[in-house]
Amino acid sequence: MNDQTVGIVGAGQMGAGIAQVFACAGYRVRLHDQSESMLSRGLKSIEASLKKLESKGYLNNTTQAILSQIAPCQSIEELAGSDLLIEAIVENEAAKAGLLQKLSTLCHENTILATNTSSISITRLAQATDIPERVIGMHFMNPVPLIQLVEIIPAYTTTPDTIQAVKTVVNTLGKESVLSTDRPGFIVNRLLIPMINEAIFVLEQGIGSAEEIDKAMVMGCAQPIGPLSLADMIGLDTCLNIMNVLYAGFKDPKYRPSPLLVEMVDSKILGRKTGQGFFEYN
Ligand code: NAI
Repeated sequence: MNDQTVGIVGAGQMGAGIAQVFACAGYRVRLHDQSESMLSRGLKSIEASLKKLESKGYLNNTTQAILSQIAPCQSIEELAGSDLLIEAIVENEAAKAGLLQKLSTLCHENTILATNTSSISITRLAQATDIPERVIGMHFMNPVPLIQLVEIIPAYTTTPDTIQAVKTVVNTLGKESVLSTDRPGFIVNRLLIPMINEAIFVLEQGIGSAEEIDKAMVMGCAQPIGPLSLADMIGLDTCLNIMNVLYAGFKDPKYRPSPLLVEMVDSKILGRKTGQGFFEYN
């Protein structure tokens, strides 16, 4: 049992996954979402994922024992005094800044405040708080229990001690980290999301069907999953938000979002989470 407590805000696909890996590593986890239904959906998805891993013999504890380490919290104040606070809410700068400001009032003197943002400036988010030296980006990848990497992004103000502490935490999860400078999209999404966006241009220009585009990249480039299936998994709203951050940050037209992506998000067709994206899901 790890003696550290981790508070997580946002119980969507990322927040739930992050809660799961910390609980598996023996941390005490407090999980909060502003929506009660998302909180219970998040807990159900953790249970389903743990059961699957347990049946394959991948867990070193029982599903029930791991679940008992995750405390669902109706109010954000219940996260007060956590050693590490991680936000994993919607990819919107104003929402994240407001939340981090609130979370910074719940910290003790050594609490580290991390954001799972995919692309937004950690330096600007840090400035929304009173503790910019202890704010850092911890970018987990989807699906969190399976992907080994966490990208660590210090703000301009983050201290070396904070960076080292977060590297150590990542190691306790059995994961690897890479360090990225705080630039729009960091390393992973600077490369990944424009590739997905280009695949959507290829689709809307009729160059290939969704199936052909994904097959081309899986079989032709040895990608584990095609770019359009991956967009559905990430969430089309999240992909669009990241393209908008890249476009606004670099002011370079090569980062303009595909009009089809914009149209699908405007139509609330967001991928797996809504059952429909470039492909259909039950
Ligand atoms: P999601 O839409 O599945 O979940 C977001 C959750 O945050 C929802 O349950 C919502 O109710 C909750 N929420 C929104 N505002 C809140 C607030 N003020 N207080 C408490 N809860 C609030 O989104 P997802 O995919 O989990 O993404 C979350 C973050 O993780 C985003 O910043 C995204 O860019 C990042 N991310 C997403 C990845 C992906 O593949 N989807 C991969 C890596 C990072």
